[in-house]
Amino acid sequence: MLKPLKIGDLVIDTPIIQGGMGVAISLSGLASAVANEGGIGVISAAGIGMTEPGFSKNLKEANKKALARYIQQARKSTNGAIGVNLMVALSDYDDLLALSVEQNVDIVFMGAGLPLKLPESILQKGFDNIHTKFAPKVSGAKAANLIFQYWDTKFNHIPDAIVVEGPKAGGHLGFKHSELEEGKIELSQLVSETVAVIHQYEIKDNKTMPVIAAGGIFTGEDIFKIMQAGASAVKMGTRFVATHECDADIAFKQRYVDSCESDIALITSPVGLPGRVITSPFVDKINNGETRPVKCPWKCLKTCNFKAVPYCISEVLHNAAQGKFDAGFAFAGTNAYRVNKIVSVAELINELKLEYATAETQLSQ
Ligand SMILES: Cc1cc2nc3c(=O)[nH]c(=O)nc-3n(C[C@H](O)[C@H](O)[C@H](O)COP(=O)(O)O)c2cc1C
Repeated sequence: MLKPLKIGDLVIDTPIIQGGMGVAISLSGLASAVANEGGIGVISAAGIGMTEPGFSKNLKEANKKALARYIQQARKSTNGAIGVNLMVALSDYDDLLALSVEQNVDIVFMGAGLPLKLPESILQKGFDNIHTKFAPKVSGAKAANLIFQYWDTKFNHIPDAIVVEGPKAGGHLGFKHSELEEGKIELSQLVSETVAVIHQYEIKDNKTMPVIAAGGIFTGEDIFKIMQAGASAVKMGTRFVATHECDADIAFKQRYVDSCESDIALITSPVGLPGRVITSPFVDKINNGETRPVKCPWKCLKTCNFKAVPYCISEVLHNAAQGKFDAGFAFAGTNAYRVNKIVSVAELINELKLEYATAETQLSQ
C-alpha cells in the first residue's frame, strides 16, 4: 500500500502529486480533483493571466488576479492540499511567489531555473510564520546541493522537499538535447544520487526531507520501482492530462489519446530549454522557419529574446489549451502515446493504487 507523504507537518495521504501544467492545463478544476483523492493538486501559474479578459493590456496584473482567483476556487472545491507551480524564468516570479504564500497555498513548486532568491516579504515574515512549503524542482543531485547549500547559508533554512525530474518528462526539460537524444540518463539513478546528497542536510537540520520523483512515471508499478530507489512521492503530469477534470479543451486531451510513439518530439523553446511536445503541422512550420518573430507586449519570461524567437511560447501553449492547434502545440511526456482513454481523476488514482499494490506483492518477494 502507498504510504502517506510527510512534508514537515503537511501529511498527504496519497503520495501522488499532479504536476503543474501551463498554460491553463492545470487550474482549479484538475487541482481540486486530485486534492480530493488525497494527492496534491497543483495550479500552474505560467501564463495564467491569459485566461483573464483584456489580459494583454497588463499581463502581470492579470496573472496575479487569475492566480488568486484559481487558488480560491480550488479551496472552495476541496479541503485537500493545493499547490502552485512557478517557473523561476517568469519575469513576475517574485510577485507570484509572494502571492501564493499570502494565499496560504500548501506548497510551491519552483522549476525552470534555480530558485536561489526569495521575495523580501517572505524573508521578513520568517519561515516559522509561513504555512506554505517550498519544493524546488531540479534535474539532479548537483543542482539540489547547490540550492540547499545556498538556502542554508543565506536564509538559515532549507527547502521542505525536492523534486527530481528526469529526461522523460513533458514540458520544459533541464537537460541538453544531446543528453535527451542519447537516452542514457535514468530517473532512478538521479533519485538515489539526490537522496544521498540531501541526507547530509536531513542530519544537520534533524528533519526528514522527501525526494519526489518526476518524469515518465506512468503506472503504479513505475511508482513502486521509483520508491525503491528512494523517492517518497511521485509528481505526474502526462497522465493527468487525459482526465475529465483537466482544465484544457477536450481537443487537447484527444491529442494525447490519438498520438502514437513517433508523434512525440523535442523542440527548442523560447524559454531557452528543450521541450517535449506532440508534433503537428504547426511544429513542422516552426522547424522549417515558417513562423514569424513575435511582437511582444509583455515580456513574460526573463530568458526570452522576443525579437529573435520564432513564436511566443505562452501564446502557443494557451492556443493549444483552447484546442487551437493551427497555432499551438501540446507539451507531453515520452509516454503520452500510451494514454488511450479519458478517465476521471478518481479512476486514474484508483488504478495507480491497485497497480502499486500488485507490484508490491509481486516484486518485493
Ligand atoms: C502539458 C504539460 C504542461 C506542463 N507545464 C509545465 C509548466 O508550466 N511549468 C512546469 O514547471 N512544468 C510543467 N510541466 C511539467 C509537469 O509539471 C511535470 O513535472 C511533468 O509532466 C512530469 O513528467 P510526466 O509528464 O512524464 O509525468 C508540464 C507538463 C505537461 C505534460
